[in-house]
Amino acid sequence: MSKFNSVPISPYELNESIFKLIGKDWMLITAGDADGVNTMTASWGCAGILWNKPVCICFIRPQRHTLGFVEANDRLSLTFFDEEYREALTYCGRKSGRDVDKFKECGLTPVFSENGAAYIEEARMVILCRKLYVGDLKEAEFLDTEMLNHYKDKDYHRFFICEIEKILKKD
Ligand SMILES: Cc1cc2nc3c(=O)[nH]c(=O)nc-3n(C[C@H](O)[C@H](O)[C@H](O)COP(=O)(O)O)c2cc1C
Repeated sequence: MSKFNSVPISPYELNESIFKLIGKDWMLITAGDADGVNTMTASWGCAGILWNKPVCICFIRPQRHTLGFVEANDRLSLTFFDEEYREALTYCGRKSGRDVDKFKECGLTPVFSENGAAYIEEARMVILCRKLYVGDLKEAEFLDTEMLNHYKDKDYHRFFICEIEKILKKD
């Protein structure tokens, strides 16, 4: 059980810009279980309301090692950190869990929520998520083909629409 000392807050009461959180602060997407867990940095993603639920959407390219962990588990987490962790987030966005133990290298501790979502103890805020929908971006469906410049290797993102089950924020 985690020592994460936090208060749960409702997504409706989140008083930080989700644009800044994801796009500028960046986040770690973490998934796994006691047998194995992996994490990667992400700065693309969304949050809002769908199917009357607070949701977030994360976008993971097919070659990411994290993708297998996200696919194998019902739950995942998005974690946000103080600025002092910028170097760790940069590392987790450059190195693959196939080659290194990112948790060990960055001094990060994987922990698990009551319902089994993997997250990171050192985060200042944790969004615990349950997967609702998976899909793939498709080349033929880009309306503005300039966006295809992001996919020189045709490695179109797989996306996961997730219910936000809980937000934990340290005091
Ligand atoms: C700032 C930043 C943002 C990133 N955002 C994403 C993202 O949204 N989706 C994605 O698939 N990869 C993203 N990446 C790349 C992955 O984090 C990177 O490829 C990582 O090494 C994958 O690790 P893994 O192989 O252990 O899963 C980002 C990298 C950085 C540095």
